[in-house]
Amino acid sequence: MVAVKRFHLIFPEDFQERICNKKKRMSANGTDNSSSKKPPSPSPLRFSKFFQSNMRILVTGGAGFIGSHLVDKLMENEKNEVIVADNYFTGTKENLKKWIGHPRFELIRHDVTEPLLVEVDRIYHLACPASPIFYKYNPVKTIKTNVIGTLNMLGLAKRVGARILLTSTSEVYGDPLEHPQKESYWGNVNPIGVRSCYDEGKRVAETLMFDYHRQHGIEIRIARIFNTYGPRMNIDDGRVVSNFIAQALRNEPLTVQLPGTQTRSFCYVSDMVDGLIRLMEGENTGPINIGNPGEFTMIELAEAVKENPEVKISMVENTPDDPRQRKPDITKAKELLGWEPKVKLRDGLPLMEEDFRLRLGVPRS
Ligand SMILES: NC(=O)c1ccc[n+]([C@@H]2O[C@H](COP(=O)([O-])OP(=O)(O)OC[C@H]3O[C@@H](n4cnc5c(N)ncnc54)[C@H](O)[C@@H]3O)[C@@H](O)[C@H]2O)c1
Repeated sequence: MVAVKRFHLIFPEDFQERICNKKKRMSANGTDNSSSKKPPSPSPLRFSKFFQSNMRILVTGGAGFIGSHLVDKLMENEKNEVIVADNYFTGTKENLKKWIGHPRFELIRHDVTEPLLVEVDRIYHLACPASPIFYKYNPVKTIKTNVIGTLNMLGLAKRVGARILLTSTSEVYGDPLEHPQKESYWGNVNPIGVRSCYDEGKRVAETLMFDYHRQHGIEIRIARIFNTYGPRMNIDDGRVVSNFIAQALRNEPLTVQLPGTQTRSFCYVSDMVDGLIRLMEGENTGPINIGNPGEFTMIELAEAVKENPEVKISMVENTPDDPRQRKPDITKAKELLGWEPKVKLRDGLPLMEEDFRLRLGVPRS
């Protein structure tokens, strides 16, 4: 067989435009993440006469902490229909109880490691335990949730032509050698450590998102979430803010992991939800850091939480691979999404404390 070469006639203006577009598509680290494919067309059902809402939105992990706040915000818009799929591993129906029975809301008990077929326009893919206690409890399940769960949601996005947003994490930067962390930083992650099921799981999930985008034209969005706090966090979930608040309310010593000088930045959940919706509805695939750049050492945080001078701080052993520093560079979020956090830690902590007080049944002193 003789190979037949195809020649395209490219006019000079065309060529200029292509080069320009390509330059625009290059990301900060110089890679071309653009897709040449057209996104798949939405299902014809979308335009059927029975279709009442403007937007049908799936939230996986919607019974969890961030997911349930996201659902609250999405439900405020009367044109949205929201479907939550959750296996209740760390989430609870209690978080969504005000929406159960609402005509624009559906709740499905579903594990994302199994395929799901629903007609939707948007997928917020949050399903994954976020706290080390829970993601280390069954690491094989955690990595399955990240890899198979994300594949299933991408398959759904492809099938119905939906746009999909992945809640990735600052953990993809591992123990960072660059500070603060920009999206162009590739990270310093231990691939075989006890946290790898989560960190590497999210890294593969990001890879899958971009491969589906490049190969199939799926519209993707990736948020790299930094530590978030607020009402409805699991009490005793091992995350530092919930630990400190629960301990302070019980008049127990606040356990600070050694050396105590490690830093984190904390974003209030309403700011996070605002950032996620802006990213979903904006024009940029990301990854985009969403977090609060205000940086605190663990000792400073413990001091901020404990009002009662009687409550002591006790230093305890740290867990392996705990990053020493974490602080997002949010230049991209500011420029591309017009987003920056508004709620200060000193304003957000009392709101979370009030929620914990009610749930723990601790009366106001
Ligand atoms: N909270 C943070 O500080 C933070 C930081 C970085 C990234 N994130 C990401 O944001 C997302 C939400 O985190 P969160 O803090 O709300 O955690 P969460 O544990 O409160 O919520 C996760 C939800 O996913 C559900 N879930 C877990 N595995 C599932 C599965 N296999 N199938 C279906 N549902 C499943 C849980 O039941 C829960 O409702 C996660 O993807 C997490 O990785 C959170």
